[in-house]
Amino acid sequence: MRDIRVVELFAGVGGFRLGLEAASDRYKVIWANQWEPYKADQWAFDCYVSHFGESPNHVCKDIAVAKKDIPNHDLLVGGFPCQDYSIMKKNSAGIEGKKGVLWWQIDDILRDKRPSYVILENVDRLIRSPAKQCGRDFSIILRCLYQKGYAVEWRVINAADYGQAQRRRRTFIIAYHNRTKLFQEFAERVCLNGIKAMHKQVMDDGIMPKAFPIAAHKRNFVDHWIDEIRFEDMESLSMIQKVYLYNAGVMMNGRVYSVEVTPRYEPFIPLGNILEQGAVDERYFLREEDMPKWIYAKGAKHEQRRRRDGSVYWFNEGAVGFPDALDKPSRTMLTSETQIGRTSHVVTDLQTGRLRVLTPIECERLNGFPDNWTNTGMPEKMRYFCMGNALVVDIVKRISIILYNV
Ligand SMILES: C[S@@+](CC[C@H](N)C(=O)[O-])C[C@H]1O[C@@H](n2cnc3c(N)ncnc32)[C@H](O)[C@@H]1O
Repeated sequence: MRDIRVVELFAGVGGFRLGLEAASDRYKVIWANQWEPYKADQWAFDCYVSHFGESPNHVCKDIAVAKKDIPNHDLLVGGFPCQDYSIMKKNSAGIEGKKGVLWWQIDDILRDKRPSYVILENVDRLIRSPAKQCGRDFSIILRCLYQKGYAVEWRVINAADYGQAQRRRRTFIIAYHNRTKLFQEFAERVCLNGIKAMHKQVMDDGIMPKAFPIAAHKRNFVDHWIDEIRFEDMESLSMIQKVYLYNAGVMMNGRVYSVEVTPRYEPFIPLGNILEQGAVDERYFLREEDMPKWIYAKGAKHEQRRRRDGSVYWFNEGAVGFPDALDKPSRTMLTSETQIGRTSHVVTDLQTGRLRVLTPIECERLNGFPDNWTNTGMPEKMRYFCMGNALVVDIVKRISIILYNV
């Protein structure tokens, strides 16, 4: 069996690499890049290096600068940042990436290197973005991949549906180039059976359904084109494309098929199972004086609020579990985890029965990282931040096992 040379972009603390290496020692990360924009301290990169070693091929620079040094490789992976995933900007020269929008860096690398395989991760909303022109951004991504000779599969995966401890919903994209057997076999099936073969790729034949089996699909589906016959160029696609894409889909030769699928659920890990068993430091426990803020943040609200322009509106939201249920998977972990607010988890400590926030180790467990993975000298706040940015390692592992064996 041959090695698969991997380039890891937006590496963070190395979630992709952990997943790949857990799948097979034939995945060799030959170049990795991680840079937190404009920060003097590069905590995530330091963590990466402390686990995977210092090397001229572990590069802490803006990808816009570093990309020129990327070596040839077989597989490109990355969880590209998602604060601003509205990827289109119009100017006289047509569309181009906004500052901070990193899809276009990936696009440049693909144009230059054409790796055989690509695996990308992003937030679940990516397939519907932007709100005003649903599906436009994802269609741009598909068109870019199509133009470079790739077929694509995507799935929105909730990790807890497939046996994990966290309800973390992320869009996973896998693309394979037309020089690969994977592409050629899929293309042949589509040639013979058209849309039926595309449906079967989503349900059974593709990498995604093999990694994440499907129980059922809904009746509605999308069947449309993003090729140059339907949209003359990227600008026209960007201007008029609007499509409601579902949580699973494929693209082959510019044709897009998408359908809503239901997972074949696997038993999740309850939040209680990943909690630390022994004594936990006092600083994690909720302080008496903060209780009113916690209760307010977690509670239901029906209150008048004022807009910037002075006008008044009614703000409504329901209550969230307080404390979080220990017999269910956790909610999604964010970079702000443990700060007083609605989204931070509050649990009943197993030893004392008192309320507390999660420890950094518990956050690492929710993403399937080894205990103390981020305990590499960064401030504790950054450990939470890094885990809020990271992915669930096992999801990458499952995709990588299938990819390696096809
Ligand atoms: C969503 S996170 C990916 C986390 C990673 N998958 C992990 O498991 O830790 C995106 C990462 O991209 C990095 N990043 C943002 N802008 C960048 C740039 N211009 N060049 C290189 N890295 C960048 C961020 O610092 C962040 O760590």
